[in-house]
Amino acid sequence: MSKTVTALRSARWFAPDDLRSSGHRSRLMQMGYDEKDWGQKPIIAILNTWSDLNPCHAHFKHRVEDVKRGVLQAGGFPVELPVQSLSETSLKPTTMLYRNFLAMEAEELLRGHPVDGVVLMGGCDKTTPALVMGAISAGFPMIFLPAGPMLRGNYKGEYLGSGSDAWKYWDERRAGTITDEQWTGVEEGIARSYGHCMTFGTASTMTAIAESMGLTLPGASSIPAADANHIRMSTRCGRRIVDMVFEDLTPDKIINRQSVDNAVAVAMATGCSTNAVVHLIAMARRAGVPLTLDELDEAGRKTPVIANIRPSGKQYLMEDFYYAGGLRALMAQMKDKLDLDVMTVSGFKLGETLEGAEVYNDDVIRPLSNPIYHEGSLAVLRGNLAPDGCVIKPSACEERLRVHEGPALVFDSYPEMKKAVEDENLDVTADHIMVLRNAGPKGGPGMPEWGMLPIPKKLIKQGIRDMLRISDSRMSGTSYGACILHVAPEAHIGGPLALVRTGDIIRVDVPNRSIDMLVDEETLARRRAEWVAPADKFERGYGWMFSKHITQADEGCDFDFLKTEFGKSAGEPDI
Ligand code: FES
Ligand code: MG
Repeated sequence: MSKTVTALRSARWFAPDDLRSSGHRSRLMQMGYDEKDWGQKPIIAILNTWSDLNPCHAHFKHRVEDVKRGVLQAGGFPVELPVQSLSETSLKPTTMLYRNFLAMEAEELLRGHPVDGVVLMGGCDKTTPALVMGAISAGFPMIFLPAGPMLRGNYKGEYLGSGSDAWKYWDERRAGTITDEQWTGVEEGIARSYGHCMTFGTASTMTAIAESMGLTLPGASSIPAADANHIRMSTRCGRRIVDMVFEDLTPDKIINRQSVDNAVAVAMATGCSTNAVVHLIAMARRAGVPLTLDELDEAGRKTPVIANIRPSGKQYLMEDFYYAGGLRALMAQMKDKLDLDVMTVSGFKLGETLEGAEVYNDDVIRPLSNPIYHEGSLAVLRGNLAPDGCVIKPSACEERLRVHEGPALVFDSYPEMKKAVEDENLDVTADHIMVLRNAGPKGGPGMPEWGMLPIPKKLIKQGIRDMLRISDSRMSGTSYGACILHVAPEAHIGGPLALVRTGDIIRVDVPNRSIDMLVDEETLARRRAEWVAPADKFERGYGWMFSKHITQADEGCDFDFLKTEFGKSAGEPDI
């Protein structure tokens, strides 16, 4: 179905010969525009997540001009609408507290303004799912423009990967094996251009998911932020969105069961961030696709990890991934596992967008016959410790820990845990299983990235670099290790994680997908009766609303009232 200029949504604001529309027109004139600028043209919103405190999006301040250039070339009228930035590097207590806030902001901003289509500028972890969730619910034609990864980190000629190498060298510093001067060198070299984290962390995973779901132009998610190709891609997004408005190519024509399954498979093949689980479920459910943890586990069993990028891979980073052919090449490599018949924002079906895609380095993007890990990067475990599930990234943990039984060492809060791990007399061995609770969606609040609990200093000095850790929090997508995350239901609302005590034996079996505390039912019932619910942390404000309406990790942590099936949204403004 195609649209004519008179049927444009924005025409309702500017075309009629009445007093209200006259006001709208005269206020555009106030900014120096005249009718030639906007009349009979699609008005394109550009939602920009730039801020002075978000290094991942520093270039968006200027890059937005390239998007506008494209919109103008194609005969549209671009309007930049700034939205909150969700800087992963500086927002406390955690950006996850605000993902739904940005999703609401995007949805309402679009619904309330005279716009016909939208380019979403995001990339730093939560910005991608937040913008996509909001735009799905708004329902206008949209293109996602990923920020692009930053350049490889560099220290004395060695590659440094965002997050992953910070954790790694910090442990070496704690062990006393590197000097303060060397540490400063790492600090200076690890982030040396604008762009998002350049490991396959949450940012790269989420932009890959957006692309494989059909929401970016082909190849967009792999282009490094500092590459001139990123500028050209930005302009192409501007040109393309104008056509999409006339084609009335809305998100419901792009996102369906098949495109969600494609995104899940691609996420698994990239060695994806554990955070992707929460975001994928939330995004899919906004589009009316009821994705579950079990379906993600199933996809995990069927899809090998073929992107040899840190933290799952040993050596390479996103810049190498781009030079090796990028996401199009990876998707071409796993064509048999994808539904190639789904539509993308380009106006072409996925299969058509992959024509001619080639792998230029098959050590970076492996063939399915030579993966870096035989199963997908995520596994979902269940048992009496996590009846509604939890996740682990087996590809990023030591093999000996995939089947493990050991005594629990339990912490009720992050500060308590942080202090204990520095105590060199702590009663802990490499066989212990560290547990952190009250760090979930409600308890954190916002499910902070605390799940990669630091290895106790005593063990670090013994050369231990991995041990089993369990929590109801998340971990950074750039993290690694035997960390079991997203335990649901969380301890704060009385999930069984609240009942485990130091010294209890916990058994984890990743191949059999189980996680249990070996404590008899009677003891657990007694502990449950003694359990006192912790007080909610907020009495007012956004935090209060968050605590009242946040759903658990296995449901995607959307607000209950934002779920698509909650009811109809307000629709178009009446006046
Ligand atoms: Fe922005 Fe990692 S801090 S993507
Ligand atoms: Mg991160």
